[in-house]
Amino acid sequence: MNPAQQRRILVTSALPYANGPIHLGHLVEYIQTDIWVRFQRMRGHEVYYVCADDAHGTPIMLRADAEGISPQALIERVGVEHQRDFASFGVSFDNYYTTHCEENRVLSEYIYSQVRDKGHTRTGKVAQAYDAVKGMFLPDRYVKGTCPICKTPDQYGDACENCSGTYAPTDLIDPLSVVSGTPPEIRESTNIFVKLGDFEPMLRAWVRDGGGARVQPAIANKLDEWFKAGLQDWDISRDEPYFGFAIPDAPGKYFYVWVDAPIGYMASFRNLCDRTAGLEFDDFWAVSSTAEVYHFIGKDIAYFHTLFWPALLHGAGFRMPTAVNCHGFLTVDGTKMSKSRGTFIMAATYKEYLEPEYLRYYFAYKLGNGIDDLDLNLDDFAARVNSDLVGKLVNIAARCDRFISRAFDGRLADSLPQPELYQAFVDAGEEIAALYEGREFAKVCRRVMQLADRANQYIDEHKPWVMAKDAEQAAQVQPVCTLGLNLFRVLMVYLKPVLPALAERVEQFFASGALIWNSAHTPLLGCRINRFERLLNRIDKKAVAAMVQASKEPEQPAPAAAEPVADEPVAAELGTAEPAPQWEPLQPTIGYDTFAKVDLRVAQVMAAHRVEGADKLLSLKLDLGFEERTVLAGIKSAYDPATLSGRKVVVVANLAARKMRFGTSEGMVLAAGPGEADIWLLDIDDGAVPGLRIR
Ligand code: MSP
Ligand code: ZN
Repeated sequence: MNPAQQRRILVTSALPYANGPIHLGHLVEYIQTDIWVRFQRMRGHEVYYVCADDAHGTPIMLRADAEGISPQALIERVGVEHQRDFASFGVSFDNYYTTHCEENRVLSEYIYSQVRDKGHTRTGKVAQAYDAVKGMFLPDRYVKGTCPICKTPDQYGDACENCSGTYAPTDLIDPLSVVSGTPPEIRESTNIFVKLGDFEPMLRAWVRDGGGARVQPAIANKLDEWFKAGLQDWDISRDEPYFGFAIPDAPGKYFYVWVDAPIGYMASFRNLCDRTAGLEFDDFWAVSSTAEVYHFIGKDIAYFHTLFWPALLHGAGFRMPTAVNCHGFLTVDGTKMSKSRGTFIMAATYKEYLEPEYLRYYFAYKLGNGIDDLDLNLDDFAARVNSDLVGKLVNIAARCDRFISRAFDGRLADSLPQPELYQAFVDAGEEIAALYEGREFAKVCRRVMQLADRANQYIDEHKPWVMAKDAEQAAQVQPVCTLGLNLFRVLMVYLKPVLPALAERVEQFFASGALIWNSAHTPLLGCRINRFERLLNRIDKKAVAAMVQASKEPEQPAPAAAEPVADEPVAAELGTAEPAPQWEPLQPTIGYDTFAKVDLRVAQVMAAHRVEGADKLLSLKLDLGFEERTVLAGIKSAYDPATLSGRKVVVVANLAARKMRFGTSEGMVLAAGPGEADIWLLDIDDGAVPGLRIR
């Protein structure tokens, strides 16, 4: 890449609290950020993606207390779990650190003292709930009582869940400390405040000079509201005991966790710089920096990132963010994630049952650049992934590869039969890149699937499976499949930021190095490719149901087996208890002559395999004694192909061959049952050999 075009980009995701596991809601953010980061890397830019655990604050202190361990031990353990979860979902941080580190302490003290020395702090008295038994001041959420407005009992100290009224914990009727269960006292303390109002003109200018790119329109409106309401001074100190950094000039006082949390972005980057030759902290954070800095966050923490954080940066003489990108919240099946419904799903639980690539695709498919909430509809999730990724995308490769590997020894043709079709796919690249740049991932997915449809259509039009049987056309099979595979390869370039694990499998298949954005420009010709391995399996709805079931009991240890599909309880849960059979009406009576026209034969299954892209079909290779046949049977929902090889079946041998979308079926195997799991193949007693007529 021309150095003049190469951008230097620092990207962050919000730092997850170190007191609980990563769940699918969190993953919206880390997957969204990771897709954007991977896209920028593929384009050849210099990108650093850093994150850390947010390790300080009262909840972490109390959680460690409850577990009988030190906060340090807690954050260490959770840090390991978080990193494992992120890695398993392909989130490609360049550094994952913790806010509880020396780099962060130094930076926090520096930023605070700069802001103080410029006169932007003051002290002030506050009256606060104090738990005398526990010996600590209580954050609002740690006091509960009766709402002073609507009188609903058991409400938090900051807001009522019934009437949405807001108030101070001291306003609650009959307040109790959540920590000790005793009524809190009101105590006065002298806290330190940042005079946020001092920064208002500069914050307004920061938003304005970004030309609409600093924050999304919905957030810009929020900012306007906040400015109009007047920016309140921000209380940045907490009294001990508190797990955090001590404030240097205020004995017994600690920085409120939201002070050192965003500074943790810098600390993580500082740590990366210290370990990376040639990477300079100041190149990214000095006011004169020409690098770009992006924060990806949830809309719930916009206030901290669009007001407090730029104010602190500016106050301490650092550059401000290029943009703060907000996303909405995840709902599952249309409502808030719920433990009782089993839709509060941990990353680690998901991973036990389903491939992370599926979720990455589904989130991408749902994500635009706005702050709307997004819904993980579990039925739609399975259907979308199965149809787009398995049915359309991977299907292209499967349909072409078998000919290339069987008939042409894995060698691609030397030229493309329709270079203009290939070129059309290449030409879509810049449009797709612009969508990625603007975080319009849903549009990326739709555009790529349109192209996948076009590729499948090309294959349908040329029918390599028909050509292969026709001596005159057989020479066309290799170029047609070469084009098909190259179209697939271009689409994998475009989807690689979303599907990095699949892309890696595809890279091995093509054996031509890592795909970068410009890989699409040159087709692969005349070279050998590896044999196609199954790239992606369909989502089994049973696995989704089992994951939901497992999420209902988060305390249960996760099953260790590779295929932890809990059949029994899930089947009961779904209400698949045997229904009374509905007898099908009898067909009109026929004479023996009519029956004799149906030629039924014993056949033996030689091989059975799934039909790429077909929901219901298995392809059976049958030995009829006198000949071999291929029969497509709609029994996939009930039979694992691996169990069929060698067994005997009954075939309607004189049924006219039927051309189906996925090939030609030369006959029909007999089975009983209504469908789905309830399909039973006919058996024949031992001794019967293939070819025998059944009458
Ligand atoms: N520790 C703070 C962030 C400090 S950043 C300097 C925090 N942590 S969090 O663990 O609660 O959330 C981390 C990120 O995940 C936040 O951006 C939050 O918005 C996001 N999400 C948490 N739950 C979410 C959903 N259910 N849906 C989408 N995003 C969610 O906030
Ligand atoms: Zn109320």
